[in-house]
Amino acid sequence: MASFTELVRTHTDLDTGDVAWLQLLQADWQIIADLSFADLVLWIRDRQDTGFWAAAQMRPTTGPTAYVDDVIGTFAPNGRRPLVDEAFATGRTIREGDPEWRDEVPVRNETIPVVRAGRVIGVIGRNTNLLGVRTPSRLELSYLQTAADLTQMIATGHFPSSGQRSDHADSPRVGDGFLRVDAAGRVVYASPNAQSVYRRLGLSGDLAGLSLADLVRELVPPRRRPDEETLSAVLGGRAHRDVEIGTDEVSLIVRAIPLRPEGRHIGGLILVRDVTDLRRRDRELVTKDATIREIHHRVKNNLQTVAALLRLQARRIDSDEAKAALEEAVRRVGSIAIVHETLSQAVEETVEFDEIADRLGSMVTEVSALTGRVQVRREGTFGILTSEAANALAMVLTELLQNAVEHGYDAEDADLAGEIAVRVERLVGRMHVRIDDDGRGLPDDFSLDGSTNLGLSIVRTLVESELGGQLTMTDHEPRGTRVEFDFPAL
Ligand SMILES: Nc1ncnc2c1ncn2[C@@H]1O[C@H](COP(=O)(O)OP(=O)(O)O)[C@@H](O)[C@H]1O
Ligand SMILES: [Mg+2]
Repeated sequence: MASFTELVRTHTDLDTGDVAWLQLLQADWQIIADLSFADLVLWIRDRQDTGFWAAAQMRPTTGPTAYVDDVIGTFAPNGRRPLVDEAFATGRTIREGDPEWRDEVPVRNETIPVVRAGRVIGVIGRNTNLLGVRTPSRLELSYLQTAADLTQMIATGHFPSSGQRSDHADSPRVGDGFLRVDAAGRVVYASPNAQSVYRRLGLSGDLAGLSLADLVRELVPPRRRPDEETLSAVLGGRAHRDVEIGTDEVSLIVRAIPLRPEGRHIGGLILVRDVTDLRRRDRELVTKDATIREIHHRVKNNLQTVAALLRLQARRIDSDEAKAALEEAVRRVGSIAIVHETLSQAVEETVEFDEIADRLGSMVTEVSALTGRVQVRREGTFGILTSEAANALAMVLTELLQNAVEHGYDAEDADLAGEIAVRVERLVGRMHVRIDDDGRGLPDDFSLDGSTNLGLSIVRTLVESELGGQLTMTDHEPRGTRVEFDFPAL
């Protein structure tokens, strides 16, 4: 289906000011559709003057629709919709005497010219499915009266007004709570939902006759309400915008649209919505994130304590083999601690892995007798990883880098200058990692499948089951070892 801007560009010569006006109108016309219990269709004139295009459509949420099918993109040649032609030609709102019958449904049609700076730039068709119309109650009469004021404003060029648009999702709808105030800001009519919203705020009596601004001054503490000027302008129905107010228990959004059907301010339409539950959920999410970060922080501290205990134990043991095993465990625990440290600073459960990789590289080269003589160099970027993938990858890298350092080079060699290159490539949906050292290479009888040592067993398990990838180890030309693996990533 063609979009509004596409239709405008393809079929009309409307200038950017006109287009912006029509878009601003659409930002608020859900309110008009709801107050009218009617479907709205925006018709724009073809540049060849051959007819009108339906460029936008809005259904009411308060009553049955008159259009089961979408009309956007349809063309009405001159004469097919005489009411649209007439409203465009005369600049007046046109009402049809008798309803039109559409598939057994009586529909009342009306057309309203959209006027900007004295020119008609489009026509709104308002179509009411009369099956939904009952003997109107006070609520319905107030809705219809307000809709009539708004459509008259459209026809006289007073709507949309250049107020704050409300395209955020929390913006109140007519059904959330509807009030009508007079020119002095006193409530003329409040819907039952609006009454309940104000009861929750602490009002005991009826809203009728009260000044909304005074009421809010009384019920809402200063820190939960806007400055005086905004408060009286919005709650008095004189400013076209939203404000949020509340008490410790209740949060509301108030949205005002001033009414001036003939140019003179006669009052305002005010919508209120109780957003207490939404705000509570927002706060809970923020605390939940903070809690998760705090937990990562504590896990990191605990892992560091475990590493310190193992290190102490390693010092007290005589057997070299046992010492080495404990030191390896210290290193493994340390690499997981680095991931948790990064997660404790992250806003989401994902981490930027490059920094972790670089820290692991220094951790492995700086503790041994090789400091400064073997370097780890990274090429390419790991980017963002989930916390699970980051934990697994950190362990894998630690083992592989440690192996290169430990088995590739001879610390006794006075001329030793080694380089371990970590290359990362992200292809569509996959990450490819290659680690090349320029050391002495794998032993002749080496076989990855036959290797039962702990380090490579950990690496293989993590690459295959945690990361869902494949690992290979080969000789690297001209010298050294190449380890490669590749796995699905974000
Ligand atoms: N980069 C490497 N260069 C040379 N040999 C390696 C390399 N990586 C692994 N190896 C060989 O693979 C063996 C198994 O490694 P691993 O499972 O980590 O156990 P460990 O490091 O405890 O010996 C090592 O003992 C070593 O012989
Ligand atoms: Mg090893």
